Amino acid sequence: MSASTAAATLSDSTKAAIAVEVARYPHKKTALLPSLKLAQAQLGWLSRDTLAQVADLVGLPHSHAVELATFYSMLFTEPVAPVRVEFCIQLPCALVGAEEALSKTAALLDVAIAGKHGMRHGHTADHQIELHGTVECFGSCHRAPMCRVGVDYVENLKTDDDVKKLVADLKSRAAASKS
Ligand code: FES
Repeated sequence: MSASTAAATLSDSTKAAIAVEVARYPHKKTALLPSLKLAQAQLGWLSRDTLAQVADLVGLPHSHAVELATFYSMLFTEPVAPVRVEFCIQLPCALVGAEEALSKTAALLDVAIAGKHGMRHGHTADHQIELHGTVECFGSCHRAPMCRVGVDYVENLKTDDDVKKLVADLKSRAAASKS
């Protein structure tokens, strides 16, 4: 996944994948969310122009795409770092060390976390990796503590080795996004 400009256009392969989603569902509205995810997977985030392109491909008013993109937290309507990490700090995760996992990850990446509870964030000096502490439950409480890296879940972040492995993966993703 890579960041892109507002003028970016969807690739032919993304358009084809969206057409598959549209054909899959009897109601166009149902195809909108997976189509927006496909667009974001290609472009990194969803500009107003991209939302309009997707809405046109699905056959819905542009306002439907805007409403959906601004409702779901996993859809980004502003540019984000190539590697975006969200730690769940809801109570079940907090009770088993979510704060520690976030702090250790930030320390290993030399990231200063700022902001208030549930709205904290920081990024690496090169802006390649963003860390967020969020109060949103990702539905993976049984494998807490956990974080979401893009759309991937990294779970059971219980030990220092677990966190070191996560950090190595984040650095690897950041390096891959530059190439
Ligand atoms: S409370 Fe963290 S995933 Fe549910």
